[in-house]
Amino acid sequence: MNNTHLPRHLLTLDGLPFDALDALLTRAQAFADGHYDRRALDGIAVCTLFFEPSTRTRMSFTLAAQRLGADVLNFDASTSSTRKGETALDTLKNLEAMGVRGFVIRHHEDGAVAALSQHVELGTALVNAGDGRSAHPTQGLLDMLTLRQAKGHDFSKLKVAIVGDVKHSRVARSDLQALRTLGTGEIRVCGPASLLPNDGTLDGCVVSHDLDAALDGVDAAMMLRLQRERMEEGLVASLDDYHREFGLTAQRLTRAAPDAVVMHPGPINRGVEITDEVADGPQSLILRQVSNGVAVRMAVLEALLRG
Ligand code: CP
Repeated sequence: MNNTHLPRHLLTLDGLPFDALDALLTRAQAFADGHYDRRALDGIAVCTLFFEPSTRTRMSFTLAAQRLGADVLNFDASTSSTRKGETALDTLKNLEAMGVRGFVIRHHEDGAVAALSQHVELGTALVNAGDGRSAHPTQGLLDMLTLRQAKGHDFSKLKVAIVGDVKHSRVARSDLQALRTLGTGEIRVCGPASLLPNDGTLDGCVVSHDLDAALDGVDAAMMLRLQRERMEEGLVASLDDYHREFGLTAQRLTRAAPDAVVMHPGPINRGVEITDEVADGPQSLILRQVSNGVAVRMAVLEALLRG
């Protein structure tokens, strides 16, 4: 893909033009189909710098970088000198001094990756792997690739429901931005009032607190994880109550279009956000999302680092 499509760092999908998004998804599909050069990032060092836990994002970035031939360093915050008080910026600058050119960063603070990007050398690229509740751009991309594979490239007739804890979800923000850029016909958002943001994030969406109504005729149900690590006490009465009102069950799914697909970024709170029957059922694309994560991250690393 043409690198001029992308900014120097991938911090957010907000403002990323349609052409750039489309080019990344097209390239990711080629990777998903097995077409790639195992030496594309030969001699380039990439570090996953995670200050929050992760399974899918970290492992898939590692695999993506390895498949393209990069040297990969996995930084473990729990055994690093951050335990002795070294800052994230000093950590990054020291790794950069060793020759690392690509940083994949997850941090609990909103805007942390953008702030770090102000201090790196011209040839260094940063990817936001999730910052606070702000953005998780590669999750947004892999979700769009998964939707495209299932529903085609024209999103203009699609009805998509995003369900659950939108307020604390960086995934939801990146999905909303990408769905808008791709011209999605109708975006519905459903969750308890206490877990929906009222800061303009949901502008243009059909907002409801009734899951049965929100699912009516949808082509895709994108379920969200309850982000309890970012939640104040008492925002959710109880997990049983949450499941009763906002959990996706096989019975509820019958309200969606017959060929509707079900997605969830993981990790899943089984029996809370979604039942086993649905998560593991024929309409679930949850593991497809995970597979696509590797391909999307290959496309992002290639675009940012092979310039
Ligand atoms: N979807 C996602 O970001 O999963 P991890 O937290 O396991 O990376």
